[in-house]
Amino acid sequence: MTVDLSGKVAVVTGSAAGIGRAYALGLAGSGAAVVVADIDETGAKETVGLIEAAGGAACAVGVDVSSKESTLALAAAVRERHGTAHVLVNNAAIFHDLKKYPQLTIDIEYWRKVFSVNLDGALLATQALAPLMIEAGWGRVVVQTSTAAYISAGVYGATKIALLPLIRGFAKELGAHNITVNGIAPGATETPAMLDTVPAERLAELRASQYIPRAGVTDDLVGPLLFLCSDAASWITGQTLVVDGGSTWRL
Ligand SMILES: NC(=O)c1ccc[n+]([C@@H]2O[C@H](COP(=O)([O-])OP(=O)(O)OC[C@H]3O[C@@H](n4cnc5c(N)ncnc54)[C@H](O)[C@@H]3O)[C@@H](O)[C@H]2O)c1
Repeated sequence: MTVDLSGKVAVVTGSAAGIGRAYALGLAGSGAAVVVADIDETGAKETVGLIEAAGGAACAVGVDVSSKESTLALAAAVRERHGTAHVLVNNAAIFHDLKKYPQLTIDIEYWRKVFSVNLDGALLATQALAPLMIEAGWGRVVVQTSTAAYISAGVYGATKIALLPLIRGFAKELGAHNITVNGIAPGATETPAMLDTVPAERLAELRASQYIPRAGVTDDLVGPLLFLCSDAASWITGQTLVVDGGSTWRL
């Protein structure tokens, strides 16, 4: 998809790996200067290297999205480097340890940790970066949810479904500032973290039952992200786009 984001500054949380890395590469390929924001600073620098090798512009900033102090420091770093921000992709999340934690025995501290990254993280990063977008008079916030919000059981799905009203709440508050806020709900998408989490037999079963019976890959999500960040989507807000090859509503 061709989208012109030249002159725009895009911040992507959780972009040291997986889908976030693909989003960062896609935004940079569309001309945006990308801030690769992740708790994994080594992976973030690798993403910057990939973007630069492809001719794009990026920098890495370490952030823990579950911390207010850290998200404010991220916003300060973006302001210092670029003076502005236009796109925020709230993609950081944790899920790959969850297979070890059945809900009947999940430790409440671990439950809180998952919520603090997956849900609080989107709140805090949006609170921190929104003032820059308001000043810019143009903005796109995209929140990474999951089909787990609709079809999964347990803490991960709970964190992702809770993002849906958060998206609508920010859409309501930021619309007058020419800022749209939308979600993307991917189905199972091949990343090292997902492949390490979902058993191979379950994945094969899922794929076979999808309307489009093939594996989802990170590039399947980049076009939808760029569309939501484009001017073509300027009157779409508060929505969550399910991108899953038809796995959620397959029955
Ligand atoms: N892969 C899938 O099948 C799939 C499906 C639906 C939704 N998702 C969502 O897509 C997003 C990316 O998934 P992925 O498969 O690429 O996973 P991933 O584990 O590869 O990526 C998550 C990134 O978030 C970072 N991160 C974790 N905690 C952080 C924190 N406190 N602060 C900042 N960064 C932090 C990690 O370092 C990592 O780079 C997540 O929101 C996930 O819930 C993934």
